[in-house]
Amino acid sequence: MSNVLSPQETMLQEVLHGMSLKQKSLPSKYFYDQRGSELFDEITKLDEYYPTRTERKILSENLVEMSSYLGDKIQLIEPGSGSSEKTRILLSGLDSICCYIPIDISGDYLNMVAEDLRNEYPTIDIQPLVTDYTRSFRLPEIHSNSRKIVFFPGSTIGNFKRKTVTRFFEVVSEIAGKEGGMLIGVDLKKDVNVLEAAYNDSRGITAEFNKNMLRHLNREIGSDFNPDLFEHHSVWVDDPGQIEMRLIAKEDHKINVAEEIFEISEGEYIHTENSHKYSLEEFEEIVSPWFKVVKVWTDESDYFSVQYLEPR
Ligand SMILES: C[S@@+](CC[C@H](N)C(=O)[O-])C[C@H]1O[C@@H](n2cnc3c(N)ncnc32)[C@H](O)[C@@H]1O
Repeated sequence: MSNVLSPQETMLQEVLHGMSLKQKSLPSKYFYDQRGSELFDEITKLDEYYPTRTERKILSENLVEMSSYLGDKIQLIEPGSGSSEKTRILLSGLDSICCYIPIDISGDYLNMVAEDLRNEYPTIDIQPLVTDYTRSFRLPEIHSNSRKIVFFPGSTIGNFKRKTVTRFFEVVSEIAGKEGGMLIGVDLKKDVNVLEAAYNDSRGITAEFNKNMLRHLNREIGSDFNPDLFEHHSVWVDDPGQIEMRLIAKEDHKINVAEEIFEISEGEYIHTENSHKYSLEEFEEIVSPWFKVVKVWTDESDYFSVQYLEPR
């Protein structure tokens, strides 16, 4: 019998573990089923959500300079590619990309996006990979004479705990290899009002996105979370500097997960996501065991940065 757990078994284990903690917590990767991916796409278009439009602007305005760092024949690898919207800026603007490997846990959505990309970019080899990039995975061995560039936009790096972020950079430096590079979007520290508004939008899309995780879990592992008994709230936590997304119980109730009963009291919350914000110095210190920061581009308000890194 195999010891390898199926994605559902892994999900169940992680949910049971998270709900047993003193501070209840659910992994943010479970936001993303088809509906979650669509809701995230809507979030990126909200007025309050500055990261996407700011990062897009930095990429578009500096693409020519970026291309001089990336090389002549590139294999572009993107963990957590989602809609690949920002990637289209690179795919359209750089003729050095021979192959694109989008990687995402949200399989149906990824395959749908990959099909569109194949039609839009017939000369680029598009090779989607459905996997959880926090677990070990293998890339297809193709285009061996190209340079591997890992593209990691969206400040998804902010979703890692400070303790586990180092492991991610270790994995990425192995993927890129000594000759490769990384182009990464990193959200910067700024006015708390701007940050909190970005994660508590007035149309309630982020609230819907947060609660959708509960529906996703119910469908996959048969739990009975009731999204109507929770309220979405995002808050800035100064130390070490992160937005925390929470689901606060509106009343005392019980939740059944695989016949384990978890009690939650009114006002108690389930933590669902961290979005760490960094200063340029803090980020450089975190990556420094594996990567050298070669070049940083920012916007005029210094809200966001795109950084080019090379393995040490
Ligand atoms: C914040 S979105 C960013 C999407 C896109 N890169 C961007 O910048 O707009 C995070 C994406 O990563 C995917 N994702 C999150 N955790 C993942 C994991 N552990 N393994 C694979 N994909 C993951 C989600 O499905 C989602 O598409």
